[in-house]
Amino acid sequence: MSSLLVLAIETSCDETSISVLQFENGFLRLLSNEISSQIKLHAKWGGVVPNLAAREHVKNIVPVFELALKNARVSMQNIDFIAVTKGPGLIPALMVGANFAKTLSYIWEKPLIGIHHIEGHIYANFVGLSQKSKVKSQNVNFPVLCLVVSGGHTQLVLMKDHLQYEIIGQTLDDAVGEAFDKVARILGIGYPGGPAIAQQAANFKFSILNFKSNSNDKISNNKTKEKSYEIQDTKYQIQLPRPMLNKPGFNFSFSGLKTAVLYETKKNPKLLKNKKYIAAVCHEFQQAAIDVLIAKTLKAAEKYAPKTILLAGGVSANKELREQLDLAIKKFIPDTCYMIPDTSLTGDNAAMIAAAAAFRWQKMNESQKKKAMSGWKNIQPDANLKLK
Ligand code: KG4
Ligand code: ZN
Repeated sequence: MSSLLVLAIETSCDETSISVLQFENGFLRLLSNEISSQIKLHAKWGGVVPNLAAREHVKNIVPVFELALKNARVSMQNIDFIAVTKGPGLIPALMVGANFAKTLSYIWEKPLIGIHHIEGHIYANFVGLSQKSKVKSQNVNFPVLCLVVSGGHTQLVLMKDHLQYEIIGQTLDDAVGEAFDKVARILGIGYPGGPAIAQQAANFKFSILNFKSNSNDKISNNKTKEKSYEIQDTKYQIQLPRPMLNKPGFNFSFSGLKTAVLYETKKNPKLLKNKKYIAAVCHEFQQAAIDVLIAKTLKAAEKYAPKTILLAGGVSANKELREQLDLAIKKFIPDTCYMIPDTSLTGDNAAMIAAAAAFRWQKMNESQKKKAMSGWKNIQPDANLKLK
């Protein structure tokens, strides 16, 4: 098969992103992946404001488009087809990307296909980053079990083959990323909450480890003293629930965990000014979330015996989650492959949409490809699009 170029557009939330990706015989090569983030704009509101997001997409989409072509060293004539995130996401935001994609498709007479945002997150795992890299891509072993963790989704998705999805578990309320963001707001440590909480939790872990090693050095033969030091350092003994941990099935629930943090902080609001306390809460909250995510994934693996476990979505940037899931797989199901996206591709980006589109395109027959020529007429953004 000859080499094909796809131009992909992602505007489902607060990143305006356009990417050019080349694919040839199943190998994906990323040529450009431009991302204009609106984090600073939304930070003062403590969350994404849909109409503000749309206004920013309108402002940024043309410069991002120009940069994506320039950095890929291609022009629109070279592009074989266009892909755009169709949903789920914020409707005003999705519409900017969809309209831009439709206009390009109409003017340049290129096929246009719509991609599910979560399918994109999953396929971020198959993007080669360097110009030379030949991707792990199609050699993945099925069935694949995907742990999808983002700001809008928490799902366990079983894939028997490429592009085939069965949702075997999902959150009954808040998504895990949403819980990170809400807890960060309760603690007053900034937006987005995921990275802020991860940072605080890392400080806490570091201080404990550091402390233990110092105290061991000094008082290695005095067990009583050592113990009292540890208690001193872990002054804030916070215990949060692990929701749904022992419930049958593979669903999650994170809203109770968030409320437990709220109650914890209400016990003594003055402590919100204490850095060590904040770090201790962040550490316990993060660990509670990770414990549930890992336990349910392992339980699902027991039932479905996947050959590969894959992590996807914004929360997959979380270092502790990446490492602890790795350790758990090595310990309990060592024959299972473990894939994680490059940290540069965990958040929203168009490269992941391009990757999913490349796989879709290869599965399409001639009549489907012909139909994509009128994608500019047919594609409708859908805020609640289902993965199928
Ligand atoms: O996938 P994503 O970029 O957007 C959606 O599709 O929702 O995910 C965004 C979510 C936010 O909730 C953010 O706080 C979370 O991912 N996140 C993290 C980390 N980095 C981003 N959560 C935990 N740890 C992180 N390091
Ligand atoms: Zn996302």
